[in-house]
Amino acid sequence: MRPSVSVMRRYLMCRPTHFAVTYRINPWMDPTAPYDNALAVSQWETLRQTYLDLGHTVDLIDPLPGLPDMVFAANGATVVDGRVLAVQFRDAERADEAPAYAAWFREHGFDVTVPKHTNEGEGDILLAGDIMLAGTGFRTSHASHAETQEVLQRPVITLQLVDPAYYHLDTALCVLDDTNVAYFPPAFSPGSQAVLRQLYPHAIIANAEDAAVLGLNAVSDGRTVVLPVQATHLTAELKAAGYQTIGVDVSELRKAGGGPKCCTLEVRSS
Ligand code: ARG
Repeated sequence: MRPSVSVMRRYLMCRPTHFAVTYRINPWMDPTAPYDNALAVSQWETLRQTYLDLGHTVDLIDPLPGLPDMVFAANGATVVDGRVLAVQFRDAERADEAPAYAAWFREHGFDVTVPKHTNEGEGDILLAGDIMLAGTGFRTSHASHAETQEVLQRPVITLQLVDPAYYHLDTALCVLDDTNVAYFPPAFSPGSQAVLRQLYPHAIIANAEDAAVLGLNAVSDGRTVVLPVQATHLTAELKAAGYQTIGVDVSELRKAGGGPKCCTLEVRSS
């Protein structure tokens, strides 16, 4: 078994009160397909309770009407050492979420930097030990990677995403702890795959079935990985590597292209 290295985490979440699929900004979204708001809320409540049961803290931001994707709090900011890099969305449909999240952080005493370049927060920018892994190709701009390094003061490694189904880094890669990740190689360019192999020779490799249920959109506290219950192969691989796993069903939110990690922004105070 892996030693227990989990620490209490502080997460920010947004109840999916106004969740809906009314536009299409990624291939998972079909505005003509039915969705069940009440089911989305109850699945989200289970996810929140899972974190509380693990001993983590969950802060809540008020959901705003007219912003159906605001439930995806990971896209609200990137927070490292108490420094907050706010976000700038690619799509107009989500633009008003950015000032709402920035305001929450200011109200809670954080120093917030408003970005000059498009970045969608922890959807594409993931702290991995002492470095940051940053995706680009669909949402977060390459220019924002330099801005991220400047503001958050950690080395940033650029990873090129190539499959529109895996449009955010957190749909294709999960940081498991300070030294390891799980990922789906075909979501990355050949050069980025080589970089990932070099950085993480012992990475857990997800298969196409795991990726297709957004299995990599998982949240790890270093010991327990909370991931979509449908990702059975990835779950078995994680267990074999010594991680504990908790499967959650967020199938309604997947209709918007999101999973557990998308709903969860880590607040790292200094
Ligand atoms: N519908 C949202 C979008 O396309 C889903 C965001 C998912 N969030 C994430 N961190 N991957 O922007």
